[in-house]
Amino acid sequence: DCPGSLIVVSNREPYRHAYEDEPPTDADAETASDTSISVDEPTGGLTAGLDPVMQETSGTWIAWGDGDADFDVTDERNCVAVPPEDEEYTLRRLELSEEAVDSYYYGFSNRVLWPLCHDFPDLIEDRSNDFEWYRTVNEQFTDAVADHATDDSVIWLQDYHLALAPRMIRESVPPGATIAHFWHIPWPSPTTYQHCPAGGHLLEGLLGNDLLSFHVERYADRFLDCVDRFLPGATVDRAQRTVSYDGGTTRVVATSMGVDADSYDRVARSADFEQVSSLFEEYDIPQDTAIGLGLDRLDYTKGIPERLAAIERFFEWNPDWRGEFTFVQKATPSRTNIETYERHGELVRSEVQRINRRFETDAWQPIVYTEDVLPNEALCALYRRADVMVVSPLVDGMNLVAQEYVAASVDGDGTLVLSDRTGAHERLGSHALTIDPTDTDGFAVQLEHALSMPPHERRRRMNTLRQRVFNGDIESWMSTQFDWIRRVHGDPGRKR
Ligand code: G6P
Repeated sequence: DCPGSLIVVSNREPYRHAYEDEPPTDADAETASDTSISVDEPTGGLTAGLDPVMQETSGTWIAWGDGDADFDVTDERNCVAVPPEDEEYTLRRLELSEEAVDSYYYGFSNRVLWPLCHDFPDLIEDRSNDFEWYRTVNEQFTDAVADHATDDSVIWLQDYHLALAPRMIRESVPPGATIAHFWHIPWPSPTTYQHCPAGGHLLEGLLGNDLLSFHVERYADRFLDCVDRFLPGATVDRAQRTVSYDGGTTRVVATSMGVDADSYDRVARSADFEQVSSLFEEYDIPQDTAIGLGLDRLDYTKGIPERLAAIERFFEWNPDWRGEFTFVQKATPSRTNIETYERHGELVRSEVQRINRRFETDAWQPIVYTEDVLPNEALCALYRRADVMVVSPLVDGMNLVAQEYVAASVDGDGTLVLSDRTGAHERLGSHALTIDPTDTDGFAVQLEHALSMPPHERRRRMNTLRQRVFNGDIESWMSTQFDWIRRVHGDPGRKR
């Protein structure tokens, strides 16, 4: 149970309302046209993971409303009850101007913080005004929180879009409220963090939290290293993992996030294999080949080109597998206003084409690539059908797809190939087949190993993976988070 009334704050909203066709015109209003509005659930581990938490706990979720019909369904406070069929909790939407979105979201969040935290300092684009807008939007979030907060509130911020907000919120809400923050992406080493514009301000902002959580110990330690190095006046207690700064204390912990394993298990068990066969027909996948699967946002951190290179090497070395193994890559375009993402998408598509041209036959393509939206049932059915799931990021805070696959592998005979540079690897480690995503030869060898593994080894590995994923599921993550929140809240040394 949450030790207070819960307010979750994130950039991305869990439900988005949009017009099915064109937005209505004034003429439509006059003729009372029924232009229909549909609801979708945006892609990304964070919102998918937290929605079930909110459904259990109720409370309020504050997020940017980016759907074109978002504000047609909200009340005068910009609130709407969700999920649309069950109405378990309140979603409060924030309206952001185009300029704010360009600078805060496409700018400082995704041109500076995302590459910085994933250790791609060369991709940082520090445009003028972006940081100022980041501050302004963090203020807007703070105002919305202040509208809902009471003395017993637990304010739980999510991710890198909101690094300045904790200190601002601290100054705007009743003193009894607890402020916690979960940072879903990696935290970089001081050597990388020194490239961060306004780095000191972000640390100060984050130290407005009572509790700051990361997925793994390494990120928590690096955060303390950065505070030590870049924030004069802060006192770091390594043993306690606390930082004292400006009259307050922040506890820094590592609690890795899991998935709603029961739900993936349930949906996969009821998987409709006819749907899979018609999907296979639609994409010309031979029904009887072994299937490899990749499922990612189209992001340069996900290691998709490296994966394609390993698949190419695999077919070079294993001609017998041509026509017998098909790799299905589903990618979701993301942040496409940013040129780096646009270029990355082009690279991925052209590599797929090149490799396909090299090996394809009249009846078979080595890689089936799609950017189509697939409903959750179809995804779970694909997970269940896939013989090998390949998760190969160059860096990833956690990676929930790896865990979803395991939870949906209800027949116990799938194999997970997993990059050692993901948070998920620290949890699933040697029971998956480990790869270094940049070592093409080693990666190709592991693909071959995955496909030719004796069934008893496959089952043994999957069995252990399933135990880990079910033991550390979303519910256990949530209760660990709430335990920590309870502890920092009751801490007599907590003075602000
Ligand atoms: C990652 C981030 C989330 C983000 C998601 C989708 O998982 O940690 O904060 O919501 O990517 O990205 P987007 O930019 O579309 O929200």
